Amino acid sequence: MLTIKRLSGVDIKPYIADLAKLRITVFREFPYLYDGNFDYEQKYLKRYLNSEETVVVICFDNDTVVGASTGMPMQDEEKMVREPFEKSGFDVNDIFYFGESILLKEYRGQGIGSRFFTEREAHATKLGYNITTFCAVDRPDDHPRRPTSYTPLDAFWSKRGYKKKSSLKATFNWQDLDEDSESPKSLTFWLKNHDS
Ligand SMILES: CC(C)(COP(=O)(O)OP(=O)(O)OC[C@H]1O[C@@H](n2cnc3c(N)ncnc32)[C@H](O)[C@@H]1OP(=O)(O)O)[C@@H](O)C(=O)NCCC(=O)NCCS
Repeated sequence: MLTIKRLSGVDIKPYIADLAKLRITVFREFPYLYDGNFDYEQKYLKRYLNSEETVVVICFDNDTVVGASTGMPMQDEEKMVREPFEKSGFDVNDIFYFGESILLKEYRGQGIGSRFFTEREAHATKLGYNITTFCAVDRPDDHPRRPTSYTPLDAFWSKRGYKKKSSLKATFNWQDLDEDSESPKSLTFWLKNHDS
């Protein structure tokens, strides 16, 4: 049976190892192609324990973690996430940043990804944030690892009220499956305004 739980702060602690494994598994796929490291992942995820304003929505199949989605206030995020907004004149105190949505392949297409958005948006707007945002990696259409069956998530995000802001970009470093070391990757932000 599939269940969804929404957690914040220290309540996330029991799931850090499962979330790290899930990130490594799902982000190996196109378009992320991330050659992940378990110790780094655990350290990265432990940031979500530091504040009660963070959110992790977890999908369980009975007791097994099969999907998750994260978020935290933009002011608590790293400089590489915050800076593009600060430079564009946004007040980062108004913004809640969504980290990732990851679901094992066999559970996709049943509305769990949509639920990840509604749960995180409910959390963010209850705390008074007007803008929710996330970013997605930019890959060329002719990328050699792009599966012929790959469907971009742009339509899914647009349907949820997000607009792609081509002027708002971040650069993250990670090691692709075909790389020997980390290299910079460009990502574009998508925004939704909850004011209106
Ligand atoms: C993003 C992700 C969590 C979405 O999960 P999901 O549960 O499949 O999402 P939903 O079922 O709510 O909606 C997916 C949309 O694609 C359609 N879809 C149908 N079959 C699908 C399938 N097998 N796989 C994916 N999407 C499918 C759905 O109908 C839906 O369309 P809609 O927006 O018109 O309703 C999942 O695709 C994933 O883990 N992707 C890999 C990681 C990733 O790229 N994450 C995003 C950036 S962090």
